[in-house]
Amino acid sequence: MTDFLTLHSPHSTLVLECPANEAPLWRYWGPRLPDASTPGAALRDTRPLPSFMLDFDQPLTLVPTFGVGWFGQSALLAHRAGQDFAQAITRCEVEWTTPGRAATLHLFDDVARLRLDVTLALSDADVLTAQTTLTNLGDTALDVQWLAAATLPLPGHAHTVRSYAGQHNHEFLLQTDTLTRSRWQRESRRGRTSHDCFPGAVVTTPGSTDDSGLVFGAHLAWSGNHQQSIEWLHDGQYQWQMGEWLAPGEGLLPPGASLATPELIASCSTQGLNGLAANFHSALRARLPWAGGQMRPRPVHLNTWEAFYFDLVPADVMALATAAADVGVERFVLDDGWFQARNHDRAGLGDWWTDLSKFPDGLGPLAAHVNALGMEFGLWVEPEMVNPNSALFRTHPDWALQIAGRPLLTARHQLVLNIAHPAAADYLFDKLDALLRDLPIAYLKWDHNRDLTTAALAGGTGGAGYRAQVLAVYSLLARLRAAHPAIEIESCSGGGGRIDFGILRHTHRVWASDCIDAVSRVDIQRGFGQFFPPEILGSHIGTAPAHTTGRSQSLAFRAAVAMTGHLGVELDVRHLDDATTTSLRGWISLYKTLRSQLHQGRVWRGEAADSLVWQAHGDADNLLLFVFRIQPTTHRYTPPLRLPMLDAQARYRVEQLVAIEGEGAKQSPSPFFADLQADGVELDGAWLAQAGLPMPRATAETCFMVRLRRIAI
Ligand code: GLA
Repeated sequence: MTDFLTLHSPHSTLVLECPANEAPLWRYWGPRLPDASTPGAALRDTRPLPSFMLDFDQPLTLVPTFGVGWFGQSALLAHRAGQDFAQAITRCEVEWTTPGRAATLHLFDDVARLRLDVTLALSDADVLTAQTTLTNLGDTALDVQWLAAATLPLPGHAHTVRSYAGQHNHEFLLQTDTLTRSRWQRESRRGRTSHDCFPGAVVTTPGSTDDSGLVFGAHLAWSGNHQQSIEWLHDGQYQWQMGEWLAPGEGLLPPGASLATPELIASCSTQGLNGLAANFHSALRARLPWAGGQMRPRPVHLNTWEAFYFDLVPADVMALATAAADVGVERFVLDDGWFQARNHDRAGLGDWWTDLSKFPDGLGPLAAHVNALGMEFGLWVEPEMVNPNSALFRTHPDWALQIAGRPLLTARHQLVLNIAHPAAADYLFDKLDALLRDLPIAYLKWDHNRDLTTAALAGGTGGAGYRAQVLAVYSLLARLRAAHPAIEIESCSGGGGRIDFGILRHTHRVWASDCIDAVSRVDIQRGFGQFFPPEILGSHIGTAPAHTTGRSQSLAFRAAVAMTGHLGVELDVRHLDDATTTSLRGWISLYKTLRSQLHQGRVWRGEAADSLVWQAHGDADNLLLFVFRIQPTTHRYTPPLRLPMLDAQARYRVEQLVAIEGEGAKQSPSPFFADLQADGVELDGAWLAQAGLPMPRATAETCFMVRLRRIAI
């Protein structure tokens, strides 16, 4: 009798076939099957052999391996000085960790003398977490070139891959590729998650939309080099592999040693891109390391970077804090420029003590002032970096990642510290620990402003250290959080260069982009939202014109875009005129009334006719809707917006939250919209879902904000 291993979650199912003495065969990963459903027959019995094939049929397995009958991409590429270059599983033991939900498969290759432990777990949120650990059971070193975190099957009607490219100042740039018989592959070798190549993708099937149809998604929880590929197979389905891209030598395993891959987080949904996003959001929410296990309401930030850059003068910073508290800011974050000799980006990184020439009494008086105003105090650091012009580099030049005999390659005038070096890690821990002990710091903005290049270990004479660097930053963060459990940390990397489920095991917020232009942000935040929930999205109201694009938008538009994430302010609030100050205060106060809803429940996103982009937060009982008009209208009458998530049986009270306002933001008058703004309007759920909510006629760069609340009938 054929053995099947089946995992079910509420809306998805995974089935493997476990023949004796080989790797489990993939039978299914997709929408939920009934409990009693089985493949019925062994896979090979259902596949008549085609001509000119091996006599032994080799379908896709959980770990397809090269050399013993598999001709596709291998999940493992390894050898022992040229020997054991081919692997094949000869034994499989299944260990259930949670019956029906989670199992570890112990796979042995008794010929190549290695073991693969593959863990698979399906969560209540329909998210599959998969991870592989390879152990060298031989008596010589095993050199691993590639080890997939997991290999997943995709059905033959998988059609399009949505992945994310980008750059500094425009992260999460959507790239759409059609799947063909050519292999689809993306890699990043920048030593961090990267701006350019997000480690994850979404695969859609024909006819799927934002809210319906079958889609698949996967993401590698890792902040270093990575690789993913999708390959067409001869049975018409695809295999999807994702894992760490190992630099030569990084996978060299002495006898007895193991290599653990990062986790692969994957999901499928029959509710389109928004259904898939909801699954990823739930999965991340279950992993975030909130102090006390629970998220507090996300406090409004003011970050000093764009107000001062490096020109920090205590009286000015204090005055900014006073003005920030006055508009309702709750956490004041002192950005770059506060530490030793940091007057520009050419010096100081590594010397993590206060520059007394700027702050003669240290940061204590500023932190006390901030606290006295009722705000938390936060501080910017970039621990993994060092400027050649710093006391640290002068004392320990060997701590910078380098390759002996090669030039030191700077980026933004800085080098990367080898924090896998225990003394360098201890140095950083001591310096950060001292800051956290001496000052009432509630928050660290932890930056990482360059790619890794010459990353050799052992002072430049050792092997590649990209992987070691990522593991070392995770352990430094863990060590600091263990010593200071209440601290919250933001992951920043020249904006959004380090946003992934791996760093988010240790951090609580990410800075999605250095670009705060609200028009650019709508696009960046939309891509971000496919995988990450809004409460961790650092999203600030910036200046007009925006420093990175030169474009100006009204305060209302900037605020509406920013408040869909974790709101902050990144402008010099000391110099706003009275009307702008009052308006900013109003937006911050509105955010405070909405944040509990904005930061829980589901988020739906969509594009609608006449260039509208919208998102809705909440549930079918109570929905907050933001409709962004970026471009001027191209329709005489903008079509109504359909809201398919609403309950067709219910009636809704629809209220406009704020007038469409701001410079240049005009709305043509009409009785319906006057009522919407005055007392609200009652509408039918089925009508709103199928025919749609009327849209106002407004100028470009405006936001129409509405609440839809179910009413008792
Ligand atoms: C990076 C960050 C910015 C700011 C600067 C400071 O670019 O993304 O927000 O903190 O560093 O140097």
